[in-house]
Amino acid sequence: DAVRTYRIAAIPADGIGPEVIAAGLQALEAVARRDGGFTLDVTDFDWGSDRYKRSGALMPEDGREQLKDFDAIFFGAVGAPDVPDHITLWGLRLPICQGFDQYANVRPTKILPGITSPLANVGPGDLDWVIVRENSEGEYAGMGGRAHRGMPEEVGTEVAIFTRTGVERIMRYAFQLAQSRPRKLLTVVTKSNAQRHGMVMWDEIAEEVSRDFPDISWDKMLVDAMTVRMVKNPRSLDTIVATNLHADILSDLAGALAGSLGVAPTGNIDPERRGPSMFEPIHGSAFDITGKGIANPVATFWTASQMLEHLGEAAAAQRLMRAVESVCAAGILTPDVGGSATTQDVTTAVCEAIRSEN
Ligand code: NAI
Ligand code: MG
Repeated sequence: DAVRTYRIAAIPADGIGPEVIAAGLQALEAVARRDGGFTLDVTDFDWGSDRYKRSGALMPEDGREQLKDFDAIFFGAVGAPDVPDHITLWGLRLPICQGFDQYANVRPTKILPGITSPLANVGPGDLDWVIVRENSEGEYAGMGGRAHRGMPEEVGTEVAIFTRTGVERIMRYAFQLAQSRPRKLLTVVTKSNAQRHGMVMWDEIAEEVSRDFPDISWDKMLVDAMTVRMVKNPRSLDTIVATNLHADILSDLAGALAGSLGVAPTGNIDPERRGPSMFEPIHGSAFDITGKGIANPVATFWTASQMLEHLGEAAAAQRLMRAVESVCAAGILTPDVGGSATTQDVTTAVCEAIRSEN
């Protein structure tokens, strides 16, 4: 058989982004070599805050044009202490996600073996969730403005946009994902008690879409009550769908409950595959540990596994996750999850586990 080649655009960007992406590329290389059926052709892009400070833009004007023929984007983190966060986020990550209409943001969370949850008596198997975040509209549609700047009567509006098309496609994606998982369980997060327009429509569309999925048990949860349920009754949850803002917040909580933000991955997916999807760790640039060599690479390995899965290399994706789990179980852990290993120690161990697995 011919060897399959995937073109990957690597955008390490800021802070610990370059450290974890370098680690992720080592693991991807190891798993491709072990598999033998495919190779990765990686192109590095030096976009990010340094570029902004040099030239006034985080990415070139034709940036999306440069990315559009890649099979996937492998992204680090963006954000610098001396650049406002709304500039970095809207200058790089959001133009890619929204520009390629990567409308499903998929965030798996589970407690990996060897990693301790801050929740008492909760271990691997007790918390195994996938959060589906609406990634194209809602509270982050960028709709709003400011008037009378600096005056006592200054106003700022931030308008959440919910479209029938946008809500229906994310609900359908979430029901299908729930269907592909053994428990066939979906929780729709809402806030339709207080937000009586967009969120009521959100609920109605969930109800409509659910009729096409009679095998899925689903329920509806107000977002505030959801935080309580995640902490008090994690076993009751499986697949979760929420708006852009709600899922942003809930998935940080999920990451913390699973032991650290440093283990939580995310895929920004265009299910229709009109362009590349983008895979990244959930965490940001982590200024406090940048350059120390101790960033946890597990979130990046996990998102690399999501990327392989998306590319159709399910066997390699699973092999990579087995290696990560065995290294965690062996206690080779960075300081954020209670160990003393470096980024490179964990990476070397994962590559070794990939090579030596029977
Ligand atoms: P952060 O995720 O960078 O850091 C929060 C805390 O978690 C820090 O104590 C950090 O050391 C720790 N942490 C994060 N990732 C880790 C890892 N892999 N290993 C070990 N510890 C890790 O969030 P923060 O501090 O709110 O934001 C810092 C910058 O990153 C800001 O400029 C923010 O805008 C940006 N950011 C970017 C994101 C992205 O590119 N997707 C996401 C979140 C924040
Ligand atoms: Mg976030």
